[in-house]
Amino acid sequence: MSRSYKVAVVGATGAVGRQMVACLEERKFPVAELVPLASERSIGKSVSFQGREIPVQVLNQDSFAGVEIALFSAGGSISKEYAPIAAAAGAVVVDNSSAWRMDPEIPLVVPEVNPQDIGLYKKRGIIANPNCSTIQMVVALQPLHAAARIKRVVVSTYQAVSGTGQKAVDELSDQVRALYNSQEVKKKVYPHRIAFNCLPHIDVFQDNGYTKEEMKMVLETQKIMGDESIRVTATTVRVPVFYAHSEAVNLETKKKLTPDEARKILSKAPGVKVVDDPAKNKYPMPLDAAGQDLTLVGRIREDFSIKNGLNLWVVADNLRKGAATNAVQIAEILIKEYLK
Ligand code: A2P
Repeated sequence: MSRSYKVAVVGATGAVGRQMVACLEERKFPVAELVPLASERSIGKSVSFQGREIPVQVLNQDSFAGVEIALFSAGGSISKEYAPIAAAAGAVVVDNSSAWRMDPEIPLVVPEVNPQDIGLYKKRGIIANPNCSTIQMVVALQPLHAAARIKRVVVSTYQAVSGTGQKAVDELSDQVRALYNSQEVKKKVYPHRIAFNCLPHIDVFQDNGYTKEEMKMVLETQKIMGDESIRVTATTVRVPVFYAHSEAVNLETKKKLTPDEARKILSKAPGVKVVDDPAKNKYPMPLDAAGQDLTLVGRIREDFSIKNGLNLWVVADNLRKGAATNAVQIAEILIKEYLK
């Protein structure tokens, strides 16, 4: 008989953590006991799970006794400190922060792309969940890479504020409300107003002129796809959208792929839905991608400025496939293949 598991969610009150709890319930993950963890600010709060209100506990060194799977989404410094504590207590950690992603001993996994890497968790007890923008891009790239070998990717992103966390969702709605009522606009989360604006600035700037988010897309893509020869360059932009990231992706492949061939390959690819009927104004949009788990791909067309070039428009829910769903999918493979 299949068994059920004691599962902790670290950051259970946050934008991604709440989605993790919802995904566990929606996908009927076999949870024997749910342990929602957050900071002292959340004392007295609870999370709804399977029709019950479960009190949030304050994260501490002893939080992981008996926990078998710990989903983390409380920021990099919490992951750096507590993921090894959870692993030492016997849990397998699926970590949504960037703390462990590029550690060569820790697998970085998108189930549609490199599920075989999950087994590497045995070394450190931690599996890293990639960056939201990277996840949706590699879901679309992998089947095309298998067919035609991708040489180079140029990507520009249009990223929703929920990727920054609940406080950024609140900031955008507060700013829109203030503008509408001719009141003073306050900014706390972003250095500039995000309402009716675009910020070409996600995460911190690096010495090479790129942001950390842009470099995550470069390095994580190569690690997940297991191919350091794929050249990637990215411009990541925050836009005043609440949920779902969009990406304009330009590809150069070794072998020629026509748009029709790419459409055919993508329509059979796991986790992908092709939405590509421009004559009927059908293309992926954040409003359609939000609240579901597929990566939508459309505007598939030839880049006629080079020999073997393709353009795609890729949209997915950043809190779901870009974070919570991907983490729960990893946990599903873990219990099916490893923690029986
Ligand atoms: P809390 O709500 O108690 O602050 P978001 O990404 O939406 O901002 O959410 C961040 C999540 O990480 C929240 O659940 C938040 O809990 C949690 N968190 C932040 N700092 C800590 C901390 N020091 N200890 C435990 N959880 C934390």
